[in-house]
Amino acid sequence: MAKTIGILTGGGDCPGLNAVIRGVVKGALLHRNWQVIGIEDGFDGLLDETKIRPLGLDDVRGILPRGGTILGTTNKGTPFSRVIEKDGKKEIVDVSDEVVRTVRKKGIDAIVVVGGEGSLAIALQLMQKGIPVVGVPKTIDNDLMETDVTFGYNTALETATDALDKLHSTAESHHRVMVMEVMGRYAGWIALESGISGGADVILILEIPFTIVKICQAIDQRRRRGSRFSILVAAEGAFPSGGDRVVKSGASAGQPVERLGGIGDYVAARIATCLDMDTRVTVLGHLQRGGSPSTFDRCLGSRFGIKALELIEAEAYGQMACLRGTKIRSVPIEQAIRELKLVNPHGEMVRAAEELGIMVGR
Ligand code: F6P
Repeated sequence: MAKTIGILTGGGDCPGLNAVIRGVVKGALLHRNWQVIGIEDGFDGLLDETKIRPLGLDDVRGILPRGGTILGTTNKGTPFSRVIEKDGKKEIVDVSDEVVRTVRKKGIDAIVVVGGEGSLAIALQLMQKGIPVVGVPKTIDNDLMETDVTFGYNTALETATDALDKLHSTAESHHRVMVMEVMGRYAGWIALESGISGGADVILILEIPFTIVKICQAIDQRRRRGSRFSILVAAEGAFPSGGDRVVKSGASAGQPVERLGGIGDYVAARIATCLDMDTRVTVLGHLQRGGSPSTFDRCLGSRFGIKALELIEAEAYGQMACLRGTKIRSVPIEQAIRELKLVNPHGEMVRAAEELGIMVGR
């Protein structure tokens, strides 16, 4: 049966989003004779009809190697609690009924929601209001449960590992401690895996609160053994044992989650004091979210796009595409967002890091 489906990308952008959009458009138009409607700027697009447009093959031509999302995105809020200005004052209102009205008016039979835990949670809420949704898991942080990996993560890892390779030359030449701060608000995957791949000497992740004295001892031991430089990778969410995460700005009505940043400076300053070594800090920031997606992310995003269509075809609403081993499968969104996928502090990857001589903060 012919269908009209919507697609939107929500939350922080990430390499591979365009591969998903292209996959959905191609699979729908070429093989199912369905129509695809692109919704711009995440769920916000369903509150403004000028942000809703049909997507044809021309719209997705050439987008596979492009980073970001041709549909735009936002990570500021949800239609269930939207900040509006009324008489000069900010108010929080639930505009989800308006979203439902727009979906019905546009004749959208189902929506493909490409997002992380936050966007997928909104998708489920909309489903409870009668909107059929399917999910595609996205985030460079790789912190979504029920999928071996999210697309975007692999590209972010490549960027972080490449940066570590480059930092090595200055570290070695100047006998410095080079600290690199990477993303990962709630999970340390990027820090851990890029740290192992990029030959880091110290990796700090939020799943293992760190002790500065022990970090200094490890760097000092290296120095005594003749390695006069050290490379440290810190996830932005890492924090000292008994201390707090370093927050740049707190959560607010228009900014639902706090912004992190600064742990690199925090650690570097303390190492400089206890070891009297020259330290420098590099914050990789949004470079990790940008750039052309890796081969892996292009392929995974494309396969997820096709799986989303299959889920709609089977009317398996409320399901999310996922990767299990080498197979594309699906799981209930509810199951995928029940908690975040964190690094196991005693798991194989951390133990491997430690056996490789990497200090993990404890
Ligand atoms: O969730 C992905 C992520 O990249 C986090 O690792 C990071 O804390 C956050 O997004 C940054 O978001 P923003 O683009 O709002 O600065």
